[in-house]
Amino acid sequence: MPFLNFSGMKSAFFFRAIFAALCTVLFAPAIFAADSPREHLSLDANWKFHLGDDWPNALHLDKAGASTGPAAERFSDNSWRTLDLPHDWAIELPFDEHADGSHGFKPVGPGFTKNSIGWYRRTFDLPAEDSGKRIWITFDGVFRDATVWVNGWLVERHEGGYYPFRMDITDVAHLGGKNVITVKVDASKFEGWFYEGAGIYRHVWLDKTAPVAIAPDGIFVHSKFENNKPADKVEVDVETSLLNSQNNAAKTTISQEIINPEGGSIAKLEQTTDVSASSRSTAYSAIAFSNPVLWSPESPKLYKLVTTVSTDGKVVDQKETTFGIRTFAFDANNGFLLNGQPYELKGTCNHQDMAGVGAALPDALQYFRIAKLKEFGDNALRTSHNPPTPELLDACDHLGMIVMDESRLLGSDAQNLQKWDDQIRRDRNHASVGIWSVANEEFSVQSTPQGANVARTMQDYVKRLDPTRPVTYAAPEGDTFAGINGVIQVRGWNYHVGKNASQYGKDMDSYHAKHPDQPEVGTEQGSTVSTRGIYANDRERGYVSAYDVNAPSWANTAEEWWSVFAERPWLSGGFVWTGFDYRGEPTPYSWPCINSHFGILDTCGFWKDIAWYYQAWWTTNTVLHILPHWNWPGKEGQEIRVDAFSNCKQVELFLNGTSLGKQTMQPNSHLTWQVKYAPGTLSAKGYDAEGKLIAEQKVETTGDAVALQLVPNRSTINADGEDVSLFTVSATDAQGRAVPVAQNMVHFDLSGAGKILGVGNGDPSCHEPDTFIPKASAKTIPVGGWRWQLADLPAKGALAPAYAPDFDDSSWNTIKAKTDGDTGDQVIKQENTTAIFRAHVTLTEEDLDNPGVQIRFTGCDDNGWYYVNNQLVGESHDWQAQPLFDIKKQLHAGDNVIAVGVKNDQGSGGLNPDVNVEIIGKSVSSPWSRSLFNGLAQVIVQSSKEAGEINLTASADGLKSATATLKTVTVPLRPSVP
Ligand code: GAL
Repeated sequence: MPFLNFSGMKSAFFFRAIFAALCTVLFAPAIFAADSPREHLSLDANWKFHLGDDWPNALHLDKAGASTGPAAERFSDNSWRTLDLPHDWAIELPFDEHADGSHGFKPVGPGFTKNSIGWYRRTFDLPAEDSGKRIWITFDGVFRDATVWVNGWLVERHEGGYYPFRMDITDVAHLGGKNVITVKVDASKFEGWFYEGAGIYRHVWLDKTAPVAIAPDGIFVHSKFENNKPADKVEVDVETSLLNSQNNAAKTTISQEIINPEGGSIAKLEQTTDVSASSRSTAYSAIAFSNPVLWSPESPKLYKLVTTVSTDGKVVDQKETTFGIRTFAFDANNGFLLNGQPYELKGTCNHQDMAGVGAALPDALQYFRIAKLKEFGDNALRTSHNPPTPELLDACDHLGMIVMDESRLLGSDAQNLQKWDDQIRRDRNHASVGIWSVANEEFSVQSTPQGANVARTMQDYVKRLDPTRPVTYAAPEGDTFAGINGVIQVRGWNYHVGKNASQYGKDMDSYHAKHPDQPEVGTEQGSTVSTRGIYANDRERGYVSAYDVNAPSWANTAEEWWSVFAERPWLSGGFVWTGFDYRGEPTPYSWPCINSHFGILDTCGFWKDIAWYYQAWWTTNTVLHILPHWNWPGKEGQEIRVDAFSNCKQVELFLNGTSLGKQTMQPNSHLTWQVKYAPGTLSAKGYDAEGKLIAEQKVETTGDAVALQLVPNRSTINADGEDVSLFTVSATDAQGRAVPVAQNMVHFDLSGAGKILGVGNGDPSCHEPDTFIPKASAKTIPVGGWRWQLADLPAKGALAPAYAPDFDDSSWNTIKAKTDGDTGDQVIKQENTTAIFRAHVTLTEEDLDNPGVQIRFTGCDDNGWYYVNNQLVGESHDWQAQPLFDIKKQLHAGDNVIAVGVKNDQGSGGLNPDVNVEIIGKSVSSPWSRSLFNGLAQVIVQSSKEAGEINLTASADGLKSATATLKTVTVPLRPSVP
């Protein structure tokens, strides 16, 4: 009986190993410590970066290896900034009123060419011992279009800002030598209607594999129960795709081992087969065992599959895949079912940016954000409107969050399907991924027959690649079945709750009555707008009140939408727009407002009042929260609305000890009192159905702020150069009470084993910077007075007497300073003719005392060899290029001679005399600062790789400073490219 089938079709001959595991641990752990040649290395550190469209013609498609500028291997990037990924350069730019508001008023994208092209370079060594291995580079996500060269070879042109892309660079790698990757990132086109960032904002990896290895994303592991209902016995199906890049067949053994959540090995299966030459093939197997531990948001228990591949008795590859055992289903009457039981989705939609870092989140921030969402009872997350960062899914797997994994665009063209394929293969092992979404609000095509066709094709694609999960579409229509809604497995509802009480849920009810067999889910609901700590709308400053009262025309308050869904189990619950505030979409305002107000949390993750509404009705915790704060000087005697978000049966409110009445809470509701303001203490008591006091809450009128406070969310972090702790900055009065209205400007000083990564305060209209990147001053010195003469040139790059500083060129031709486009004055009239051009430039000791000096040419037609003080600094062979060379080493104080040997190939040619020496000054850091917004600000601190202490001090005029200390501890470092 064949164990494996490599035909690419699912084999009828499954290998089944049934383990009647009464106890979970059958074998000792760590059987998988085999020495596999696979290396999975981080390529995040030590990139060089340059912002600007300085080499618009670098890409050459005429000949291999012909691209110029930074794409060329020999290019000097010494003067470029050094940084680590992930990186988002949009966050570093100042806000600009003329930029696109839906993208957060950052001057990137259409109309901002200067800021929309970024260049990245990374140099690294590969040892000679890598000979025979396959070398891969994977980009998890770049915004937006990326052109990638390796050692001058064009290896990838990737369009799109959210999909991973990968290349096998084995053929062009230098083994036993230096290699350079160049990436041109073009963010001049938007892809969405929200902040999207710019740059290499997700991780980059370098993988080395044996010639016979597990294919990229080549493992698919999923659990199966009879009738999709958890039972004592589970079957785990595994697909393993192998890649054989050898010219001969390989005899392989694949071994699969399952490790349970406690780390015990519970099943092992071994299969042998021949893999044909130069091919990719898939093997199928199934392993059954008893008493599986189920995954759920409340108990996110994870299993591990260890796949080991051997040829001729030698391990050639090994991979660990984390997975969960659970079932997901949608039922037309009972809504979403988790592990066979009705389970209300209490979800949020989220974009991927955050205060302080933009779209470039270190992994620890993914975990921080998921944990924050869970605090108010969120159990599901929609990756609106794009494929997520892989580490976001890791965080959801480990912390327990059900994910709606959404594509960027509806489309069944080959390119879009390839992206959809990549997304599904990459994400389908994640325990947390519960449903796929083919798209969001495709207004112009969604109700057409073609829209239906395309959605069906995408849905069928899912069924082939991942038979375990349902598919939806985030539909903005009401009671409409035409088009996508008619073909999609689970009907998604974006809004349509209704705008007044008699209408609430009407569309959904009539749709449900007409299509009783189609399951439904609230793909996008809410869009309630509120600003943390603000209690009246303020158009001028761009704030909306934090009571649950504001929602744009298509949207609803939290209470409106949730009441409708909570009463209709067949709707499966829903996803709030949004969990976190995000940059862009400043609805209902525009400038000066630069971020959205839709979040239950602000951009830092600080709770808005509305988070307590959700916590009250989404968790079983006893919740009692009253709003607003009680600092209203000047409003004495005036009525102030006081609301309670609570799940207590009754709530009684008191002002300075006097009862203002006890009220009964209706489910999914809130309570309101009108209270004549007097400073002091506003307090509330919450009672259960039996009248027992179960909760107390108070807000007090505070004094002025006198001191700052700094509290880290984690006081010990890993010394790995990646981990972060988030400090909450607040101000307290003389009695140590947090002052909810403090707006002080706070300065930060950090010493020790880390750095500040970013700052924020959740203020949707704040234009203060999130990052304080050291900036290098630059000075430009024009190189004028060019002389030239037709002359023979020595062999390429060799010296000619006329390159020497002391050569007398006084009798040579002069050249007019005014230039003509790229090529300047075409003084060489004959083709195939050579000439030498010379000029002088005077530099001071002070100029040379700077970190970088470069020379920038506007154009040379056609070939140029460039000399500074008789030393070759570079060459160019492209009349459209703008050659730029690092020349610091060749210069001295006083007179310097620049000489260029030029060879014209065709037509007329010459050197454009518009030449400048650029002095790159020392980087100067401005001190970090951020003002408090309604009492709070945030500082994100990142460790270095040195274990030790980090001390952060916050200071503000007139307030007592605060210092807090973080410990950073040694951990095994992520394997990375040196
Ligand atoms: C939805 C859209 C979201 C966001 C939201 C704001 O229609 O899907 O991306 O724009 O509106 O309310």
